[in-house]
This record gives sequence, structure tokens and C-alpha cells, in this order.
Amino acid sequence: MCGIVGYTGYRNCAEVLLNGLSKLEYRGYDSAGVALMDAETIHVVKAKGRLSELQAALKQENPPECSCGIGHTRWATHGVPSQINSHPHCAPQVSLVHNGIIENYAQLKEFLQQKGYSFESETDTEVLAKLVDYHYHGNPMEALSQSLAQVRGSYALGVLFRDFPGKLYAARRESPLIVGYGENENFIASDIPALLQYTKEYTVLDEGELAVITSDQVQIYNSFGEPVTKEHLIAQWDVAAAEKGGFEHFMLKEIHEQSSVVQATLGAYLHDGLPVLGEQGPDEEYLKRVKRIHIVGCGTAMHAGMIGQTAIHRMARIPVQVEIASEFRYNDPILSADDLVIVISQSGETLDTLAALKLAKSKGAKTLAIVNVLGSSIARAADWVMYTYAGPEIAVASTKAYSVQLTVMYLLALKLALLQGTLCDAEVRYLTQQLQRVPELQQLLLTDCDRIKYLASQFMNSSDLFFMGRGFDYALSLEGSLKLKEISYIHSEAYAAGELKHGTISLIEEGTPVVALATQDAVFEKTISNVKEVRSRGAHVIVLCKTGAVVPAEVADHVVKLPHLESIFMPLLTIVPLQLFAYYMSVLRGCDVDCPRNLAKSVTVE
Ligand code: AGP
Repeated sequence: MCGIVGYTGYRNCAEVLLNGLSKLEYRGYDSAGVALMDAETIHVVKAKGRLSELQAALKQENPPECSCGIGHTRWATHGVPSQINSHPHCAPQVSLVHNGIIENYAQLKEFLQQKGYSFESETDTEVLAKLVDYHYHGNPMEALSQSLAQVRGSYALGVLFRDFPGKLYAARRESPLIVGYGENENFIASDIPALLQYTKEYTVLDEGELAVITSDQVQIYNSFGEPVTKEHLIAQWDVAAAEKGGFEHFMLKEIHEQSSVVQATLGAYLHDGLPVLGEQGPDEEYLKRVKRIHIVGCGTAMHAGMIGQTAIHRMARIPVQVEIASEFRYNDPILSADDLVIVISQSGETLDTLAALKLAKSKGAKTLAIVNVLGSSIARAADWVMYTYAGPEIAVASTKAYSVQLTVMYLLALKLALLQGTLCDAEVRYLTQQLQRVPELQQLLLTDCDRIKYLASQFMNSSDLFFMGRGFDYALSLEGSLKLKEISYIHSEAYAAGELKHGTISLIEEGTPVVALATQDAVFEKTISNVKEVRSRGAHVIVLCKTGAVVPAEVADHVVKLPHLESIFMPLLTIVPLQLFAYYMSVLRGCDVDCPRNLAKSVTVE
């Protein structure tokens, strides 16, 4: 996903832009650029590759020091990663950076070519820059409004007009953009980590809003051109929170943060031993009557939904369907006002999940968003919101966000059980007491990384690796497998333990690595039987189970014991060694742990 930073004030703009863009690297990118504006002109410097390439280009081109400008990291969608295709894109009067997709860019390009414009890049963004230039006759707001009215698609924009030195223009439709407030300086950015070094005060641009920003004034207009007053938010995250905090990688830091962020999330939704839903949470009267629940998300968020599904089934006895967002939105789902659609998203900006949410609302369903980013698009589009409190998750591979998503799902399941009468107060109080043991038990697991590091060293050269489990452990297997694949590039599959013998067991041969999750008391023996089936065919087996469980020596090559906890909450413990296993496999294989190839932190394109 692209990253945008804009600045106007008294500092060296190039430095502010580079600092800000470096805090957005986690979004994934393949080129970068800046436009620096002084009283006379706009200096544009761009480079393919990492920010260090841009830094070198700036050193070489040595533009004059400016105090107003825009910067961009590009994750290619239209046109290959290249210096030409990188942003900012320019026209005679305009320089512009963009995050999103202009769906009708081809028609607009043809129109502009007929008006005499020529194009050097393959991008939709260059078309937008020249469209704004075409509509510019001395009034930037008019030029932007007329251009954006012709555009179909999504955008977050930072724009400079040559005739207006010191002024920054910003606009937003679907792609997130915030305005940061400073002392004699103001900012725009795609996400708050880019600004934390300078300010914690910001506002989130809403759909269709436009902002005109100088060093001492911010004016925001709605899509009708009317001035609007916006709520100022104060980021709870300091710069350190967005840095690595002494860990080698963001991912390891975020794995270790799970204990504290689960604690924070429990604190937000527990009162006097009972679950509460928060001031933006779902209506309790509605939850008493709800008959069907759909949980929708992508990747790890969808896997968290699978844990939530089993938790709600077990405790509240309400039918729950889990759907992949990109499937849900094209399956013409059967929904009504009696359906609750829960969307889960760490970033709150995943386009497929946002589209699924909007589809659910259009069909009359009530919607609840479980998101980690304050004021994100998904949070603002849903009827109700339950925020998770993971803090900024920078590593592309989601870890702590998964744990707090599970935490909220468990609390919601307990609340539903109370409201629907399937569990009494005393039962829920007992279960919340169990849930409150999780942070200390996760911390315990985090002190035992060497054991997992050793296991990773034994399997680091595997080409295929299987995960398997039953019930909660099956849902967890999917997440463990995804973690391994996305950061170590080892092929992996997750299987319902009872299903392997219906075909896939034919792939098991001497030395095939199998990670078996056996933390669920009710199906422990069954799972061990499945382990025996693969072991007898030569598999090299790791079993994860509760302390006290007996795993016969001939069944497993390695056994990882986990602290004892109610089976229903074991996923919050089992996930820790699975994340560490994937992390160390990635490190040992020399992969880019925090920015794995081909991936972006938040997928805001189809
Ligand atoms: C998780 O490790 C992946 N990076 C990815 O599957 C992610 O969970 C998915 O893209 C959903 O992102 P979201 O939670 O921000 O919506």
C-alpha cells in the first residue's frame, strides 16, 4: 500500500518527508519520491527501490532547502516499479502524490491526450495530476473539485500548486489520509506513525473531504465545498511504540507485546468481572435477539474470526458463518436485519473487507467492526465498533493484532452467552477469570524462545510443512501455516486432523515435518491417533499440548508443553510458539521478516 507524507512549516521539508516515509515503510513499497516547493518552483526527486535510493538521489540533485512539500512511497498497482512510474507525478501547474486506484483513468487519459497532454508513465496517478492541471485556472479548490467529480475509484491525495507556495492540498476517498497539527507547522500522512516524531494531534479526513493547509491554518471542506469542523484526536502511540524498541525486528517486538496488549484490551471490555461492549459497541437489546452471525475478514483476521466462530458456537449457541471477505462480497449473501455481520480488520482499510461491510449494510444487516486503527475507514463505515488495543502493528505479518482480535471475540461470545441466557453470571465470571490469566501465561511462554528457536533450526530447510488440529486447533493451524508461509517462504498446509486420511496423507513420507496441535481436552486422544497415522508413515512430528498431557514417546519427535488453561482459551497461548516458530524459521533462512516479498501491510486494492 502506498504511503503519503506532506509538510508545510519552518523545518527542512525534505528531512521531514524522509523521516515520515521511513515510518511508513512497513506498508510495503518499491519506489519513492518527493516534491519540494519554494517561492519559485517545485523540485521533484524520485527513485526506484528503497528510501536510501531516494536519499542518494536527493544528495546528487541537491535541490534548495524548502519548507513545503509532499512525499510518497509507491506499492505498484498500475505500471511496474520504476523511477518514471514513482510519485509525485507532475503537470505544468501541479505536483501530486496518490494512494488508491483511478478506475476510469484510461478514458480520462484519452480525453487529456485530445487536449494536448502527453504522458511519460504507465500510471493512473499521472492522469489525475494532468486532469487537475487541465481544470486549473487559478483556483486550486475548483480544479480539485472538478477533477475529482470526474474520477471513479479511490484516492488519498497530497497536491502542490506552483502558484501557491507554502500551501498543501489534500483529498480523500476510500484511501486513508490524516491531517497532523503542529506549532507553526502542519502535516498530512497516510498513517499516524509518520507524524509521531512531530505531533500526536491529528484528524482523519472523511469520505470526499478536501483540506487546504498552511503552516498556521488547516481548513477542511466536505464534498459540497462547505467548511467542516473536525474532531481532533490524540495518538496514544509515542515514537518508541512505532519503533523497534530494541528488538531485531518489529515482528519479534510485536510478538512480545502480546501480553500487554491483551491485558489492555481485556481492560477495555471487562468491568467487575463481566464483559462490556464499549460506548461504540453493539446494542445489547439487539444482541439478545440476534439469530445469525457472519464473521468476515481476510488472512489472519479471517482466522481470528474462525476462533470467534467456535467460541460463539460453544458459549452462546448462535449459528455463525465465517467468510473470506473477497468471496463474501461476490456471493450475493442472504442477509436481513436479523443478521449480524462482524468484520475483523487490523488496519481497518482492507478494501475487500470494507466492501463486504458496505454490501452487508446495503442488505439491511447490522454491522460490527473489530479494528485496531482509530477512525479507520472500516471503523467509520460500521454501525458499531469494538476497537482492539494492539498499538501500531508495523510488521507485515500480523501477530499481536491476532491475539487482541481473539480477545475481543471471546469477550463478545461471553456477552452474547449472558444476553442469550446460555451461561449464567457465575459461569461467565469464572470464564473471564480464566481469560484474565492469559497475559501472565503468554509472558511465561515468551521466556522460552530458545526451545522454539532450536526447533526452527531443525526444520529450516523444509520444503513442505503440515499443520493439523481439531476444532480450535484446526483454526489455529491455519494461522500457524499462514505465518510460516508469508515470512519464511516455505510451503505449508493446514489440515483438520481427521481429514488428512481422506487424501492428503498420501503426501506424507519419511521426514515430512508435521506440527500437530493437541490442546483441546475433548479431542486430545483423537488428535494423537491422527498423529500416529502420520508418524507411522515417516513424518517428523512436533506436538503442542497442555502441560500434563501424556504424549507417548513413539508418537512425537518433539513435544512443546503449554501452560494449563481452559481449552476454549488455549488459542491465545498456542499461537505464541507458532508465531515464534515462523519468526525464527524466517530469520534462519535470511528472509526479510518485517517486509516479506510480494506482501503489503494493508491491502487496499482488489
Ligand atoms: C497477516 O499476517 C497478513 N499480513 C494478512 O493476511 C492480513 O491479516 C490481511 O491482509 C488482513 O489485514 P487487516 O487485518 O488489516 O484487514
